[in-house]
Amino acid sequence: MAAGDYNAVREAIKKTIPQSSYDDGSAGPVLVRLAWHASGTYDKKSGTGGSNGATMRYKLEASDEANNGLEYAQKFLEPIKQQFPWISYADLWTLAGVVAVEYMSGPKVDWKPGRVDDVDEQYVPPNGRLPDATQGQDHIRSIFYRMGFNDQEIVALSGAHNLGRCHADRSGFEGPWVPNPTRFSNTYFKLLLHSQWYKRKNRVGVEQYNDEDNELMMLPTDMALLKDPKFRVWVEKYAEDKDLFYRDFAAAFGKLLELGVIRGPEGKAFRQYARAKL
Ligand code: HEM
Repeated sequence: MAAGDYNAVREAIKKTIPQSSYDDGSAGPVLVRLAWHASGTYDKKSGTGGSNGATMRYKLEASDEANNGLEYAQKFLEPIKQQFPWISYADLWTLAGVVAVEYMSGPKVDWKPGRVDDVDEQYVPPNGRLPDATQGQDHIRSIFYRMGFNDQEIVALSGAHNLGRCHADRSGFEGPWVPNPTRFSNTYFKLLLHSQWYKRKNRVGVEQYNDEDNELMMLPTDMALLKDPKFRVWVEKYAEDKDLFYRDFAAAFGKLLELGVIRGPEGKAFRQYARAKL
């Protein structure tokens, strides 16, 4: 297999998505979450964090509680790394997110290779840069503004909760947001807006929002999108207009995966932002 054949890698990722004995029969959602958490540590002021370097391989970042469960995603991808040793983990993890979104009938997301794995260990971002689901709109804004996103992009990105589920043994929350959690759509926004949500303690004692019969759930941060008027405008638009949501999600997710990735003339990313600026 020729080095640089990203289409071959894409095909291998697609083949690994159906997983009959895992969750809803799909590795797709957890792959999207891996791509997001690998990228969402970015801090635009210091230029640290982001997907370059796949720094979640280091214990410091892997042990951030927010990353609980992402070892499953990494395990699903490991045979592909073995099959295509020329691709960096950083490229593989982000590409897997893009392929998974598309596989689950979401939009095509622009993706560029060039991330490198040998980022200095001193640039591993500290714990606590990812959002805390128990909090409200101020927290959401401070986390996503730090990465360089605006209110509209925050809501678009949150639409990824159309996919997958919460696991009591990973985050303490439990359940899926939508009835068909392996198919990308704007159902999350429709349900957020039009269902009745009740604050309840789940079976491990964590407070979350559930629908009447406890089948679907929302996180406190999901509910904050409804309570905050500037966020809510976008929830309403995306519930109404699926095409608009797909377009905006593709743009924002593509931007997320690029955060902190600065390429030199040969298309390879610099080992870290600070050096790239010299
Ligand atoms: C799952 C929190 C934004 C994609 C989860 C879970 C939590 C969470 C607590 C459950 C983890 C588990 O128990 O397995 C948050 C918070 C966010 C946020 C607080 C922002 C305020 C995002 C964004 C994306 C995303 C921006 C992607 C663009 C996902 C996906 C899952 C998930 C796909 C399902 C994973 C699975 O099924 O294993 N999120 N998230 N989230 N999140 Fe988010």
